[in-house]
Amino acid sequence: MTISGKAKLAGVMGWPIGHSRSPRLHGYWLERYGIDGAYVPLAVPPDRIEQAIRALPALGFRGCNVTVPHKEAAYRTVDRLDATARRMGAVNTIVVGEDGSLEGRNTDGFGFIENLKSGAPGWKAADGPALVIGAGGAARAVVASLLDEGAPRVWLVNRTRARAEELAADIGGNIETADWVSRETLLEGAALLVNTTTQGMAGQPALELDLRALPSSAVVTDIVYTPLMTPLLTAAQARGNRVVDGVGMLLHQARPGFAAWFGREPEVTDGLKAAVLQG
Ligand code: ATR
Repeated sequence: MTISGKAKLAGVMGWPIGHSRSPRLHGYWLERYGIDGAYVPLAVPPDRIEQAIRALPALGFRGCNVTVPHKEAAYRTVDRLDATARRMGAVNTIVVGEDGSLEGRNTDGFGFIENLKSGAPGWKAADGPALVIGAGGAARAVVASLLDEGAPRVWLVNRTRARAEELAADIGGNIETADWVSRETLLEGAALLVNTTTQGMAGQPALELDLRALPSSAVVTDIVYTPLMTPLLTAAQARGNRVVDGVGMLLHQARPGFAAWFGREPEVTDGLKAAVLQG
């Protein structure tokens, strides 16, 4: 659709940004709801991120998303943080207030939980312990949101154990770390298994994990969504576990930003998913 001189503006800052699917995601909603607005990719190099964020109010932007590698810099730059962003130490959504102030939020954990709820109806974090593999930036949102949702315990296993311990200390709560070699033993008590590593992504080897000990009632999810069915999800589905693919986390994390900038609660639909995954 064409936009007018009054169009509401938002976008996504990253470096590089060419691979981002967010413009297509928000563009789909803008079109679908007939909103006079635009959501654009903003290629911002690391040495200019603070300047770029500070410029949002002057440019009349309602706000923006922030992606790799700028989430921590955004955390340091905004005027205010919501409780989740403060806990994460990272911001993925910025909302410009009426007074031009910048509020930093983090909706990655919200996206992760909403994706599980819609992909595995009836799933609850309180169902039992979760086993989370990996301790990078994405793991932080996954672990914190699972605990906030009532998971009785999170087992956190990372190839480099020290990183898992650091994450556990930062987030606090009932997180137990274990050695990489013990990951298959921990499957036995898991109600949820989450891969947050890059293993299984197109061009990367599959995550090395024999699922034999995993209860058949456990839900398995992957934050990797290229391919949608990772080797982990394929193996889990073949043995009868419910699986939830990773693209829904991207779709759902976008909801709060869209609502704040464009004034309408958007819906995650199959049409949206197809549009985002295209090409
Ligand atoms: P982010 O971008 O989310 O911050 P990252 O630093 O790229 O994350 O980390 C990705 C995750 O994949 C990490 O948990 C990493 O483990 P290490 O902390 O040991 O590096 C994990 N990962 C990457 N390659 C891996 C491999 N070959 N085997 C197991 N885990 C791997």
